[in-house]
Amino acid sequence: MKRIAVTCELPPEIMKEFVTNFDTVECPLRGASLLDVSKALEGCDAIVLAPPTRADRSFFDARPKSLKAIATYSVGHDHLDLDAAKRARIAVLHTPDVLTDAVADTAILLMLGAARRVTESAALIRSRAWQGWTPTQLLGVGLSGRSLGVFGFGRIGRAIATRAKAFGMSIHYYDDRKRSPQADDAGQLHIDADEFLSAIDVLVLASPLNDQTRYFLDATKLRVMKSSTIVVNIGRGDLLVDDDLIAALGENRIFGAGLDVFSNEPNIDPRYFALPNVFMLPHIGSSTVDARLLMARALANGLKILFEGGAPTNRLA
Ligand code: DGY
Repeated sequence: MKRIAVTCELPPEIMKEFVTNFDTVECPLRGASLLDVSKALEGCDAIVLAPPTRADRSFFDARPKSLKAIATYSVGHDHLDLDAAKRARIAVLHTPDVLTDAVADTAILLMLGAARRVTESAALIRSRAWQGWTPTQLLGVGLSGRSLGVFGFGRIGRAIATRAKAFGMSIHYYDDRKRSPQADDAGQLHIDADEFLSAIDVLVLASPLNDQTRYFLDATKLRVMKSSTIVVNIGRGDLLVDDDLIAALGENRIFGAGLDVFSNEPNIDPRYFALPNVFMLPHIGSSTVDARLLMARALANGLKILFEGGAPTNRLA
């Protein structure tokens, strides 16, 4: 039986996916790095980890000799050095597809939370100071008839667009690797960032974080957007520049933001807490029981296929 180390803490019903298939060592990191627990990882064929635990070049250089695979309990893989993994001939697996619906649902939650001023509304009712309904109380913006712009039009971006269409929104997406703008059934493709950003009412950041996408949304791009725009981030915190978004929100240069992910989690920029027009969630994008179980199953199945000499579809490197 292949030996795997599970370094993230998982509930027993989810651990079962690994325990029934492998000789499973539970090795919770609790803030430590993989290198800190290298002794416990010796003899393991695979390591299951979750963000923000990093497997970088120094880890791959010092990896246990027995190691053949890393399986990340996430779809995002910006915490892993895929080039170093390839050089070390370590397979890398992740969890696409199974969490798409959960994450897309959360993006809609963020959109509605910002559009309907949920931070202020929830604070008001919990303060017990609410004086009752008035015609002008906490007016938000409706989504119907507005345009959604998706940055990162992959599995999750498309699932968000499908949901947004049901709200009566039109869909725009941006991809500067394409040659010419065009409209198709999916929506209106833009290849120019300014044209894209000035056309939309809600921007959803749903792309993976990499050298091309890091800090996509900055002061220059925020200036192009309408003052009624809502920014949603369901991807990774570093897709935007905190200083620039906080300034735009504080000066009401955009309407609001819905954020599930942040730079330097969990130590998020404290200035966000002072902004009533930000609706924040603690990185719960894929947090449904169904998705989390399927994520473990995808990794366990992928590792089994890999160890039997096959090619798992969720292999990244
Ligand atoms: C993912 O699956 O990438 C989630 O954001 C957890 O990090």
